[in-house]
Amino acid sequence: MSEDATPEPGTVYLVGSGPGDPELLTLKAKRLLEEADFVLHDKLPGPKIIELLPDDRRQDVGKRAHGNRTPQWEINERLVELSREGKRVVRLKGGDSFVFGRGGEEAAYLAEHGVPFEVVPAVTSAVAAPGVAGIPVTHRDHASSVSFVTGHEDPTKPESTVNWEALAETGGTIVVLMGVTRLPQYAQALIDGGLSPETPVALVERATWPGQQIATGTLETIVDVRDEVGIEPPAITVIGGVAGTRESVVDFLRNDYSQSGEGVSND
Ligand SMILES: C[S@@+](CC[C@H](N)C(=O)[O-])C[C@H]1O[C@@H](n2cnc3c(N)ncnc32)[C@H](O)[C@@H]1O
Repeated sequence: MSEDATPEPGTVYLVGSGPGDPELLTLKAKRLLEEADFVLHDKLPGPKIIELLPDDRRQDVGKRAHGNRTPQWEINERLVELSREGKRVVRLKGGDSFVFGRGGEEAAYLAEHGVPFEVVPAVTSAVAAPGVAGIPVTHRDHASSVSFVTGHEDPTKPESTVNWEALAETGGTIVVLMGVTRLPQYAQALIDGGLSPETPVALVERATWPGQQIATGTLETIVDVRDEVGIEPPAITVIGGVAGTRESVVDFLRNDYSQSGEGVSND
């Protein structure tokens, strides 16, 4: 291994863990996790990856005992503090740190405070979760564009920050992260925006984790499907013709999660 592959003391590595299967960690992420002096993580890397981290060199900065999140400013300060102690620090996030992961905010804070950092990209759940369900996010017959959007919006905001009507008009695939709770609102907004109620939709919960669940329906039926199957966060919603292609491959679709008996496919 080349010399520059060794993590530098005082450096923060913003590392994506991928969707949750340890075999989907990049080689670089795995090496950095082994060599880091300290790892700050939350729950989203998933149980299999978190159990690989040594207890005396990690801190869970996700939800605290009373269900409150550790504020971002506190995580930022902790990163700076650890780096100033000369530690080689990994900030581990689920998926890719720069896809709805606040990695950009952490990078900006580190730069402002003169802390050297490296970004280690990874497999985002936005692509991996549809993938393990047999759903390509683009397909020559169904979608030549894909939009990644958040379904989690501030309830105090009077209007949606996502322009669902405009998304409905793209005709491309729509992948919604953090979109379990507000599924009824945006499914309706997309129908109001002109998408057919028959548009295929898939929900993929805990992709590549033990207990992965996949459920499919249409814009019109998906809320009932969600409730019947009991889909809960973290889950990805895939909307568009591509979601319907799962049906033609599912009988031959194998992945370790279903083979091991850990996964459930409920559609
Ligand atoms: C704060 S965002 C972080 C996204 C992450 N940075 C990524 O690139 O995958 C959290 C959302 O990511 C999605 N997510 C992350 N990991 C997932 C997984 N293994 N299976 C399904 N959805 C996942 C869910 O929509 C979840 O609510």
